[in-house]
Amino acid sequence: MEFTAIKGFKDVLPDEVGSWQRLESTARRLFQAFGFFEIKTPILERTELFSRGIGTETDIVSKEMYTLMDSKGRGMTLRPEATASVVRAYIQNRLYQKNPIQKLFTMGPMFRHERPQKGRFRQFHQINAELFGDPGPRSDADIIVLAMHLFDSIGFSGLRLHINSLGCSACRPLFKSKLKDFLLGKVDSLCVECRRRAETNPLRVFDCKVEKCKRIVAEAPSIMDFLCDECGKHFESLKDYLSRSGVSFVLNHQLVRGLDYYTRTTFEIQTDRLGAQNAVAGGGRYDGLVKLLGGPDHPAIGFAVGVERVVALMTEEFLPEIKYPDLFIAALGENAEREAFQWVTDLRKVGLWVETHYGSKGLKALMKKAGRLGAKKVLIVGDDELSSGKGVLRDMETKDQEDVGLEDIVTNIRKNF
Ligand code: HAM
Repeated sequence: MEFTAIKGFKDVLPDEVGSWQRLESTARRLFQAFGFFEIKTPILERTELFSRGIGTETDIVSKEMYTLMDSKGRGMTLRPEATASVVRAYIQNRLYQKNPIQKLFTMGPMFRHERPQKGRFRQFHQINAELFGDPGPRSDADIIVLAMHLFDSIGFSGLRLHINSLGCSACRPLFKSKLKDFLLGKVDSLCVECRRRAETNPLRVFDCKVEKCKRIVAEAPSIMDFLCDECGKHFESLKDYLSRSGVSFVLNHQLVRGLDYYTRTTFEIQTDRLGAQNAVAGGGRYDGLVKLLGGPDHPAIGFAVGVERVVALMTEEFLPEIKYPDLFIAALGENAEREAFQWVTDLRKVGLWVETHYGSKGLKALMKKAGRLGAKKVLIVGDDELSSGKGVLRDMETKDQEDVGLEDIVTNIRKNF
């Protein structure tokens, strides 16, 4: 039997890892500048956390979760997203007692049983930032600027920021009921699932990918006409902050995003270079979620970046940086091989990338190997060099050779780099 990775799960090979590291280290640097601290939560959580947090009518909860039962018959689910888990950790560890404003980030794998296609996997990775404790539009702007800044810092251009407001518990019910009336008026033209959604959770019809449903929601009432004064002011103020920071945006009043917890601001950062899976990051405000999951009534906002999608663009846009060993040690004969083992270890400890060979080979074969690896210099040591106490250091580019003392080899080799 030949083993292959499970459909929708993929290996990240060394060629691609450079882009992952670059994205992650850029994110870490920015998170530090914006005052965010890292948190790591378990990959497996109680199913109820996600069904209650994300909403039972969402695609994620209704059809995409990987759920298993523990020995007591309780459901456990591989996290399909990180926000609900971070909120659980925030509540369980009473993080708000340490600081009323908590800024947290996390990175790691998520699992959704979606139909795999370009840019869509069943195991994928996210970089999340979540800010707790501030209800005002300035933290919305802070979060969005942070997300945009991340893409600027890795050199991306041509991304579009879409923003919307979904209102709050005061104004959204009226919008929902008008939307429901509108959808029920067209119910025969909706897909089977949306007929049900129109009744139970009309906002979710905006998530539908079926063409006829998309055409209908394009004509639907706009949430903007229903926002209460507070939500209207919040949204205006956010737009003002974004404009002041030079961040351009597109107003997209159909941007409801596929999770039920959002209130007021939602946003998505999109590219036109990835086909249908065009969102490289998405987020929004979720002022009711902490309370809904059993915590205090604390507001929050955050976003998640889709790592695979960003890496796909990076690989398209930038050539990976190729690195080569500093030194190859060609040890000729048993005695030299024995000594070389220690030299390799000592030189690696001071940070040089040193390669050598396993098994005995002649000088010609070893030089060929060093050339194939792209080593910058080669140290050649055989019995003669051992007895004279001087090895030969060859520069592979200029072909120049010089003697180096073997006594204090770390100092003597280091001088050359
Ligand atoms: P989301 O829009 O479901 O939001 O996912 C965020 C990002 O993860 C997407 O924009 C996309 O780049 C990536 N992504 C999602 N599903 C897949 C997939 N199947 N394969 C590859 N990439 C994918 C959330 O998850 C929210 N928790 C974001 C958030 C944080 N809202 C507030 N705080």
